[in-house]
Amino acid sequence: MLLVLFFGFVALCNCEYVLIDKREDILEPEPLVPLPDGRIVGGWPVNITSHPYQASFHNWHRHSCGGVLISPNWIVTAAHCISAGPHRYSFRLGSHLWASGGTILVGTYLMRHAQYNASTIDYDIALVRLSMAQSVVGDTIGYAQLPPEGWHPTPGSLATVAGWGTPFAGGSLMDELQEVDVPIVSNESCQQFYSELSNRTGIFITDRMVCAGFAAGGQDACNGDSGGPLVVDGYLTGIVSWGNGCAREGYPGVYASVPYFVPWIKELTGL
Ligand code: ARG
Repeated sequence: MLLVLFFGFVALCNCEYVLIDKREDILEPEPLVPLPDGRIVGGWPVNITSHPYQASFHNWHRHSCGGVLISPNWIVTAAHCISAGPHRYSFRLGSHLWASGGTILVGTYLMRHAQYNASTIDYDIALVRLSMAQSVVGDTIGYAQLPPEGWHPTPGSLATVAGWGTPFAGGSLMDELQEVDVPIVSNESCQQFYSELSNRTGIFITDRMVCAGFAAGGQDACNGDSGGPLVVDGYLTGIVSWGNGCAREGYPGVYASVPYFVPWIKELTGL
């Protein structure tokens, strides 16, 4: 009986999203004091013209994740943002508000990476083919630039992450797009930061991930930023994926590594 109830619940909900949130609930006691004047966490409002590739990924018309426009037909997002067919999803482009303005587009194909693993959050990347090409490109809508093959961000270089996510773990979404700058952390030191947690959870920093954050915390992506862009030197470098809480000391944000996935993206999109 309980089992039936459980599977009923799983069938109704956006499962992976809920599973990941659950895991975060377990791993992250919420900070007692909300972190400094936060948006994203510790960021500031920004116009869409600074991130014209930024999409708000809607699930039943409500913001649920970020997305990144990379060509007239393709959006990149996180695999954990997708758990059902295309009918329930849409994308708003060209607006700094997730709830109004700009253009709404729908997708026809949703392609989560075949090796995406919800337990280890590895290969957390997906491609969405838009049903109609996004023909209007200008100040408010544009494409993110994929890095050239072989390029990797230098640890310490400043990365910008943007989204409508919560200003602290467990908060509510922001109406206006926010951004924050965080330094790239090498995978080796990121794994050191996460070592105790990795041993407890089996979630390790893999080659498919890139980390960014200050050792002291205070600035980070947070819930609802998933699927959105991390940009270094003008190149799309990461897709917001996970973290232990948000902006916590000693826990950088973890992103799907776009440099790792460039060949995969090119193969599937023909870009
Ligand atoms: N999984 C989160 C989401 O659904 C993203 C969390 C990113 N966390 C972080 N500390 N950088 O939006």
